[in-house]
Amino acid sequence: MLDKYKSSTVYQIYIKSFCDSNGDGIGDLNGIRSKLKYIQSLGVKYIWVTPFFCSPMVDNGYDVSDYRNINPMFGTMEDCEAMIAEAKELGMSFMFDMVFNHTSNQHEWFKRALAGDEEYMNYYIFRDEKPADWTASFGGPAWDYVPELGKWYLHLFAPEQPDLNWENPKVREELKDVIRFWKAKGVGGFRFDVLNLISKPDDLHLPSGSATRFCKDGPRVHEYIRELVTDTGIEDMITVGEMASTTLDNSIRYTRPENHEMSMCFSFHHLKVDFKNGEKFSLMPPDLKMLRNVFVEWQEGMSNAGGWNAVFWCNHDQPRIVSRFGDEGQYWKESAKMLGTFVHMLRGTPYIYQGEELGMTNAHFKSLDEYDDVEAINYYHILLERGNSESEALNVLANRARDNSRTPMQWNSGKNAGFSEGKTWLGIPENYKSINVETEDADDDSILNYYRKLVQLRKDYRIISEGSVKFLDAGNEKVFAYERRLDNQRLVVLCNFSSEDEKISGVDIKGEVLIGNYSGSHKIMRPYETLVILEG
Ligand code: GLC
Ligand code: CA
Repeated sequence: MLDKYKSSTVYQIYIKSFCDSNGDGIGDLNGIRSKLKYIQSLGVKYIWVTPFFCSPMVDNGYDVSDYRNINPMFGTMEDCEAMIAEAKELGMSFMFDMVFNHTSNQHEWFKRALAGDEEYMNYYIFRDEKPADWTASFGGPAWDYVPELGKWYLHLFAPEQPDLNWENPKVREELKDVIRFWKAKGVGGFRFDVLNLISKPDDLHLPSGSATRFCKDGPRVHEYIRELVTDTGIEDMITVGEMASTTLDNSIRYTRPENHEMSMCFSFHHLKVDFKNGEKFSLMPPDLKMLRNVFVEWQEGMSNAGGWNAVFWCNHDQPRIVSRFGDEGQYWKESAKMLGTFVHMLRGTPYIYQGEELGMTNAHFKSLDEYDDVEAINYYHILLERGNSESEALNVLANRARDNSRTPMQWNSGKNAGFSEGKTWLGIPENYKSINVETEDADDDSILNYYRKLVQLRKDYRIISEGSVKFLDAGNEKVFAYERRLDNQRLVVLCNFSSEDEKISGVDIKGEVLIGNYSGSHKIMRPYETLVILEG
C-alpha cells in the first residue's frame, strides 16, 4: 500500500500563480492543463493543487463557500474534469486540497447559522460568553461577537473563516460527502489543510495565547481522521495532512499504515529555526544546530517507528528557500541544488513547490501595496504598533511574507514571464529574465535539470525510497551528513549549508557519486557543496 508513493515525488501548484490561460492576470485550471507536459517532464507522479473551489478569496481560496463547485475565476467543472483526465493519460494524478477545519463566512451553513438556525449554529463553535482571550493565526482575537445572536464564534484564522464543529456528527458526514464527490471525479488523493486543529479542547476556558497552540492535536483528532478516511474508503490513496505545531509522537500515529489515518504529514519545526524567540515576524539568521536537531529527531524518529514524512522546504505559505537558507547571489545555483539534494535524499515523500525547481527567489517587494496576503497586511500594522519603523516592517515582510512564494511562475523571459498576457495579480521579481523554465530547460547544468535527476534517482534506487536513515557527525556544524541503508548498501549524503569552504572529518566517503553540484571530489566541502555517494 505504502510503496506506491515511497518512490514518488509530489509537485505543488498554487493555482492563482501557475499559468493564466485567458489573460485576466490570474492562473486557472486551463492554464494547468496547458502545462501538464512540463510537470510530467519533472518525473513526478502526483500534483497537489491549492483550493480552487467557490470562495470570496479572503485567504486566497482557503475560505471555501462551496466545496463542490469551482470558483469561476479559475474555470468550470468541465475544465476540472478535463484536467483530471489529461493528467491521467500522462500517468499522473491530482491531490485536491480539502479545507475542513473551517469554512468561509459566506458558506451557506454559516449564513444559516447567522440567521439563527439552531441546526446550523451547531455546525460551528458558538458560545454565549467568550471563554478565553485567544489570538487568531493572522493576528487579532480568535473569538468574535455576533450582536444579532448575542453569541461569540471561534475562528483560528481570519474572522471570515469560522471553525467547524467536528463534535457534531452531521458536520463529519457533510465533509465525508465532499470527499466522496471528488473521489468519484477521479482524484488520486487529498491534502488536508491544518488537519490537526479539527478537534478542540473539551474545556475552552484556557489561558490567553495563540489559539492554535491550544487546539493542536486535540483529544479526538485521531478518531476523527480515521473515521473520515475509513468511511470514505481513501486508505489506499495518497493523503497528506498539514499538521500545525505537532509532535513526533502524534505524527507517528497520524501516519502508521495500521492506524488508517494519513499516508504522511507535513510538520513545520524545520521552518521555524530562523524565528527569533519563536516568532515568525521576528528575524534572525537560521540556527543550523537547531535545524539539524529537528531533522535528526524527525527523520530517525519516524523511521524507527514506521511513520512516514512528507519532506519539503517550500510551499505557498513559506518564503523561497534559496533566499532563506541558501544564497540568492553568488551561490544561487549551488545553494539551490544543495537544498534540493538535502530534501530529496531524505526518507519520506518529497514535495516540490512550483518554481522551486528553477531556484525562484523571494519577491523583493518594496511597498505595502505590492502585497496581497491578509497575513502580511495585518502583520505590517502589528509591527508598526509594536514600535517598528515602516522600513523595518517592510524588511520583515520582504523576508517572511507568504506572498514571497506566491509570485507568478516564471515560464520564459518574455512579457510577464510568460505567465499571463494581462496585468498579473501579484508582481514578478525582475530576475525572471534569467530564472525561468525556457532558459533552464536548455541548460544541462541548470537547477531545473538537476531537480529532474533528483526525482529520477528516487525511482531508480530503492535505497532512496525505502532505506533507513541516520544522521552522521561530519565534525563541522555547517555540514550536514546522513546515511541511508538498505540490505548491504549504504548511501551517504553531504550538504554544506555555508558560503565558505568547510573542512569535514569522520565521514567515510568511498564509492560511486550519484549526484553532486561541483565536479571533482575534495576533503573540503566548497560553498554549498553537496555530494551523494553510493557504497556497495
Ligand atoms: C493552511 C494553508 C494556508 C491557510 C491556512 C488557513 O496553513 O496552507 O495557506 O491560510 O491553512 O486555511
Ligand atoms: Ca485566468
